[in-house]
Amino acid sequence: MFEIAPSILSADFTRLAEAIESVKAGGATVLHVDVMDGHFVPNITIGLPVVKSIRRSTDMIIDTHLMITEPGRYAVEFVEAGADMVSVHVEVDHHLQRTLTAIRDAGAKAGVAINPATPLETLTEALPYADFILLMSVNPGFGGQKFVPTMLDKLRRLRRMIDDRGLDVRIEIDGGVGINNIAEVVAAGAEIIVAGSAVYGREDAAGAVRELMERAAVWV
Ligand code: DX5
Ligand code: ZN
Repeated sequence: MFEIAPSILSADFTRLAEAIESVKAGGATVLHVDVMDGHFVPNITIGLPVVKSIRRSTDMIIDTHLMITEPGRYAVEFVEAGADMVSVHVEVDHHLQRTLTAIRDAGAKAGVAINPATPLETLTEALPYADFILLMSVNPGFGGQKFVPTMLDKLRRLRRMIDDRGLDVRIEIDGGVGINNIAEVVAAGAEIIVAGSAVYGREDAAGAVRELMERAAVWV
């Protein structure tokens, strides 16, 4: 089973409610919210107050991707703000097991995000505490970047790593996914597909979600 998670990073922030309604109408179930602090990544986006507002305006699953240097300090606050899924980067969290457990205890799904050049081995001990892994297929910071081609193989290896251990951990892929490669990433084992520019870069966001789902369904 795969789900489409439109990233609001590429939406018009002055018309966020409409942007959310349109992707829901298209069949998206998860809303991907990119939180950037200008330290871990060279960009600044949105934070807790916006997540709280989004929570009030939709019943979609809110997926907050924390691209911040001290995720352990804020992760539970995002759950309290209304996030259903919270991912923290393995590169910056020195107490990953503690953060993941805290996210779960607060009532949300706990995820580990991993950059393109970070080895999968860094996830080994954290996997039993994670509900999902967010595999970055671009270097985080901006929407509209090109899919790093070697990430397809990394995705397959991650799928195997999880399945070989019989773990119930979902894989989310983030960055550079669109109608031309969504079937490939689903075939390689991704279950939650983030799409920013492929959805909001189009006039008809609902239609874009529908088209992505049709293309992905070829492999299911
Ligand atoms: C990048 C973000 C992504 C981004 C994806 O740092 O984590 O979620 O919005 O955008 P596209 O789909 O345009 O690559
Ligand atoms: Zn993201």
